[in-house]
Amino acid sequence: MRSHWSNRWAFIMATAGSAVGLGNIWKFPYMAGTSGGSAFVLVYLLCVALIGLPLMMTEVMLGRRAQKNPVDGMAHLAAEAGATQVWKGIGYLGIAAGILILSFYSVVAGWVLAYGMRAAAGGFAGMAADQAQQQFAAFLGNPVELLLWHSVFMFLTMAVVARGVTSGLERANRIMMPGLMIILLILLGYSLAVGDIRRSLEFMFRPDFSSITPAAVLSAMGHSFFTLSLGMGAVMVYGSYLQRHVSIARASFYIVLTDTAIALVAGVTIFAIVFANGMEPAAGPGLIFQTLPIAFGQMPAGTLFATLFFVLVAFAAWTSSISLVEPAVSWLVENTRFRRRQAALLVGGTIWLLGLAVLLSFNVWSEIKLFGLTIFEQLDKLTTNVMLPLGGLLMALFAVWVMRAAHAQEELALNDRHYRRWLFVTRYVAPAAIVLVFLNLAGWLPFV
Ligand code: PFF
Repeated sequence: MRSHWSNRWAFIMATAGSAVGLGNIWKFPYMAGTSGGSAFVLVYLLCVALIGLPLMMTEVMLGRRAQKNPVDGMAHLAAEAGATQVWKGIGYLGIAAGILILSFYSVVAGWVLAYGMRAAAGGFAGMAADQAQQQFAAFLGNPVELLLWHSVFMFLTMAVVARGVTSGLERANRIMMPGLMIILLILLGYSLAVGDIRRSLEFMFRPDFSSITPAAVLSAMGHSFFTLSLGMGAVMVYGSYLQRHVSIARASFYIVLTDTAIALVAGVTIFAIVFANGMEPAAGPGLIFQTLPIAFGQMPAGTLFATLFFVLVAFAAWTSSISLVEPAVSWLVENTRFRRRQAALLVGGTIWLLGLAVLLSFNVWSEIKLFGLTIFEQLDKLTTNVMLPLGGLLMALFAVWVMRAAHAQEELALNDRHYRRWLFVTRYVAPAAIVLVFLNLAGWLPFV
């Protein structure tokens, strides 16, 4: 008998813990900033509602039905449906995606840890915009410091994964997640008081269709997968621990809503600071590290809030990173002679090494380009824009074309109307949207 979550909130908190992470606080604002603001936000919201929510339900449903890690789970479901074992490939794709994502995720989580230390030392007091920018540039230019923090973060992640005990972390999550929301609201309050909130809202929400480019649409779609942890089996693993009677639709709805709300609040807050200080919204991956120190440096008790903020973001990144490696580690443990510790060491060591290349691509290797992008940019694009949407597409196709309808319906337990809606979206809308975006990017369709 597999162990299960103690109640539906435990599942919601754990899955939200995986979903809420650097994707919301670091990546969403900088991507919105570089991809035309409102155009990106609009497409992102559409993708979350039309693809993200139904796919979250689908992935949880597959996991709960399979009761196994993604590779063996897909093998089991394919056998149950009398289909080919090739569907196992979804699981392998997910394992690879998780490893590649964590190789850059850990480097950026390291930045968060480093900034937490600086904050605690009172380093942001009275900081001006140009100082904040210089400080971040100098930080990125120092590979030794980046290496130190990347190593610390990988160690923290693998220490939890090696023990296989997430219960302590789960309990901590219950305090940390609401804590993060409260600090975000305090920051939002600061932005309302002294930031340029009007320009921020305009930038994020006033429709401007001129900046919707094929690349922006693809990034927005990819990001909706990334931020919801979809398409790589992380949600499937968590769904496999979900008890039978819990409503998948309702739990998925809460998770998607929480994740989206946090991203939007972070975005509005950060752009209000950007515009009030005459900064550039398109600053790229350094955006939050160049803007938030200014805000913290000016507000009362800024040192305390800044420290808390970076600690909480690091924590959110931690709960996400665990779900990124869990598919790989659980698959190794269940299919090889490796013990959990050895599996964690092997997977963690591989990711740590890949991370070296990523952190060097911000300084010593910044001139090395693969198809015009640095190693960091290339890994980010490959996973977010290709691997996750592809994994999600295959899961959707499997659920509605291969799996028996009665089985899907048994898990989802939706009323007729809602079931038909889910079926329609998962069968036609989501796959068509993903395929169109892919084709369009490849230049085969002249859409936008
Ligand atoms: N959703 C996480 C974030 O937004 O930071 C990143 C992530 C975690 C992606 C787990 C994929 C995943 F399986």
